[in-house]
Amino acid sequence: MKTINTISGKKQFIDYYSLLEKELTAGDFYYAFAFQNEYQSPEIKKLFKQFHLSLAKKKIDDRAIFNKKLEITAGETYSDNNNLKLKFKNFNIPVGLVITKNKILQLGWRPEPFIVEINNIALFKHYYDFFMENWNSNEAIEFTKEVLEKLNYKYNPQVLNIINNLRDNKSIILTAESIEKIETNWEYKYNGNEKQFGQKVVGETIKLWSVPRTTAELLEFMAVATKSKNILEIGTSAGYSTLYLAMGARYNKGRVNTIEKLKPKIKLAKSNFKKAKLNNIDLLEGDAMEILKSGKIKKLDLIFLDADKENYGKYFELFMPLLKNGGFIIADNVFDYGHMMKDYLDKVLGTKLPNSQSDRRVTSYTLPIDNGVIITRKIKD
Ligand SMILES: C[S@@+](CC[C@H](N)C(=O)[O-])C[C@H]1O[C@@H](n2cnc3c(N)ncnc32)[C@H](O)[C@@H]1O
Repeated sequence: MKTINTISGKKQFIDYYSLLEKELTAGDFYYAFAFQNEYQSPEIKKLFKQFHLSLAKKKIDDRAIFNKKLEITAGETYSDNNNLKLKFKNFNIPVGLVITKNKILQLGWRPEPFIVEINNIALFKHYYDFFMENWNSNEAIEFTKEVLEKLNYKYNPQVLNIINNLRDNKSIILTAESIEKIETNWEYKYNGNEKQFGQKVVGETIKLWSVPRTTAELLEFMAVATKSKNILEIGTSAGYSTLYLAMGARYNKGRVNTIEKLKPKIKLAKSNFKKAKLNNIDLLEGDAMEILKSGKIKKLDLIFLDADKENYGKYFELFMPLLKNGGFIIADNVFDYGHMMKDYLDKVLGTKLPNSQSDRRVTSYTLPIDNGVIITRKIKD
């Protein structure tokens, strides 16, 4: 065996890794000081993601030390790999250096991919010890699966991207034939003729309304804080608030059922959910009243009302038996559309004085943010 082998070229690099993957068997180890800037290349991410997943299958002792600035990238790339142990250090670590199977590999990808393979036992020992020293040093922060999950939750780039786009009212990609972008990104041509609350219908254009950002963040916060597993949203529209609820729900392995009845919005929301790659959302298509009466929804921990205000009172009676004791209802728009949800407000906002007509099963608090948000807690069956 030659002491030093040099491999260069993209194909050669990829071939080398597929051979190495075959060569490594249970009981072996693969320790790496990870690449840094190279992780900007989707090709590298894909190659290493697959490589480490196959090491996971063989239960190889797989560890990597990353530069701390790559926390997000690493979290994103390896969050579904339970076997690969990651640690992060601030600075002073080599880049693209691997210690495995009695050999050292110095990797490079930019501008040209290369691998220098060094087969020298003294050097191997030296680098092995050097890796272990770094691995065991106090500065290296270990990222457990839980931490990675949180990281991924917080920075999940697909979700952030789509949320930012929705928030900035830009670049919603519409593929549905029934919707066509017209003047602004928030106005769409709609071939149906339904008019209803929450949509400004001008000729054939419909304005989509989403909750403001602070309210959206409150929804996410509530989903996390209440540890809700079963969330219901009435009124999906383009799915902006749903994404926040779903992001929060992920913390507790919760799911969001969201109801929307208008076909063009269903298509739009579906495409947004797909792009966001959140798999804990179920879009229930149809009229909220019918869906609530159908018995499809079994139990609830958290409800967000953002649809036809005049029906909230009726919805309240239908979902109350499904809502757990201690569960929450959040309703938007008390300041601007309070007059349209009067029967609901009478039920949830009344005092607890003997003559009050309000519902004794709940207690509420109005938050003076954005359009006014009422938070209601179920206190008894
Ligand atoms: C204000 S928008 C929802 C905005 C969304 N929650 C957000 O913040 O991104 C209200 C939505 O409720 C839907 N909607 C109204 N009445 C409904 C009903 N009875 N059943 C189902 N959806 C309804 C409308 O089509 C509209 O898309």
